[in-house]
Amino acid sequence: SYIVTENCIRCKYMDCVEVCPVDCFYVGENMLVINPDECIDCGVCEPECPAEAIFPDSDDRATAWAERNRSFSASWPNISRKGTAPADADEWKDKPGKEALFSP
Ligand code: SF4
Ligand code: F3S
Repeated sequence: SYIVTENCIRCKYMDCVEVCPVDCFYVGENMLVINPDECIDCGVCEPECPAEAIFPDSDDRATAWAERNRSFSASWPNISRKGTAPADADEWKDKPGKEALFSP
């Protein structure tokens, strides 16, 4: 499956949600995750993310986030429509070290 990683934190652009054919994104306070059992590996969300937060699980950058996508997608609500990104999303884009800001 594909995995959402820390680059999503506080950016939450939700362009990914718009294109997912199976609606397998789930929304937390400051980022989204993918349910890996529902993702059909189509790959269309990956290039749509302005923050480059989405990677295939075969990518090293996805490894640290795979389990969190699995566990939090089980408890966070599903999201199938794009909402409004945080007002300061662009300021958080490309910022390093955002993993520390993860808020389940
Ligand atoms: Fe949805 Fe396809 Fe992205 Fe999986 S790879 S989350 S199915 S858009
Ligand atoms: Fe996050 Fe990118 Fe989607 S910032 S909400 S993974 S478009």
